Amino acid sequence: VFYFIQLHRFARLRFFAIMQKGRFVAALLDWYRNHQRALPWRETKDPYRVWLSEVILQQTRVTQGLPYYLRFVDRYPDVHALASAPAEEVMRLWQGLGYYSRARNLHQCAKVVSGRGGVFPDTVEGLLKLPGIGSYTAAAIASICFDRRAAVVDGNVFRVLARVFGVDTDISSNQGRIVFSDLANSLVPDEDSGQYNQAIMEFGALHCTPGSPACEDCPLKGGCFAAIHGQQPNLPVKLKKVKVRTRHFNYIVPVRDNQVWMRKREGRDIWRDLYEFLLIESVRPVSVSKCLTMAGIQDCKDVLDLGRVKHQLTHQTIYARFIRVQLPPGKRRKDVANLGSGKFYPIKKAGNLPKPIVIARWFENNPIPS
Ligand code: ADE
Ligand code: SF4
Repeated sequence: VFYFIQLHRFARLRFFAIMQKGRFVAALLDWYRNHQRALPWRETKDPYRVWLSEVILQQTRVTQGLPYYLRFVDRYPDVHALASAPAEEVMRLWQGLGYYSRARNLHQCAKVVSGRGGVFPDTVEGLLKLPGIGSYTAAAIASICFDRRAAVVDGNVFRVLARVFGVDTDISSNQGRIVFSDLANSLVPDEDSGQYNQAIMEFGALHCTPGSPACEDCPLKGGCFAAIHGQQPNLPVKLKKVKVRTRHFNYIVPVRDNQVWMRKREGRDIWRDLYEFLLIESVRPVSVSKCLTMAGIQDCKDVLDLGRVKHQLTHQTIYARFIRVQLPPGKRRKDVANLGSGKFYPIKKAGNLPKPIVIARWFENNPIPS
């Protein structure tokens, strides 16, 4: 049977895609059989492992995520082990992946599943009730582990569908989310839905890439809207620009008796529950002496400005600056009082605390002198 997807069901009426649904699915599955990377979570249908891999892969690319995945399954071979781990250890293993609320949700979810005897729900609806599991993760687990017919929609899927089917709806709009998720759901095959979902993501990651899609050598080129019309660079359409805010984090690193002062971040800002030095935030760059004054540290002779590093987050540019302050040995109530709620940690202990990656990196590069 030959039928065409009519785009006006999904988007503005502009043209008809010439790609046939069955051919699209078959070509992707075939491409995937020949080109997929061998990855540990592809050797299993264990929902614990698939869940773990998908939560990590929402944060980072496959190559960067792999070592994290391996450390997690090594440390926590099953969901009960993860559930009973100390929160701080989980945060520490997550360190560097960003969006630390995901690590907290991961831990929460493990506790809930462990409480259900270690059994994950086997439907999209059931999975969606778990902490931290949204439509992407639910569809991934349900299709990969339980052969449910559910479409995953991630950045790769947006790109491949927009190009092949010529959909120019803005992917950052609510309308876009609906259009692409309808289109994606209309494409998922009844069988092999898990394979198909992984195939389209892998194809987007390796073949139909953002900057240089390999169209010459593409199994879909004959029916691909973008390839036929030379529109690869313009699809998908993403109109909403992320607003990026600049922040200056002036870190005072108080050192005393071979110990370093740190405290746990609180509040609703980034990096909650991670450890940091004494933070003086400013809107503009400020001088070392101004920072020390703002921190209430006076008459300190042993001050070392260790320079500034730029740290780019999705919505924020952080300039982190480190100023090491060597305090006189012995307990002196006065300087401790100024420092507030943190405490001095032996260097090794401090190194093992979960930290934002700028601080972790600083630790690796700047051994604190004894
Ligand atoms: N990206 C996120 N999950 C993936 C998967 N299972 N296969 C390929 N790419 C992915
Ligand atoms: Fe992507 Fe090019 Fe293949 Fe179309 S022909 S699916 S744009 S790689």
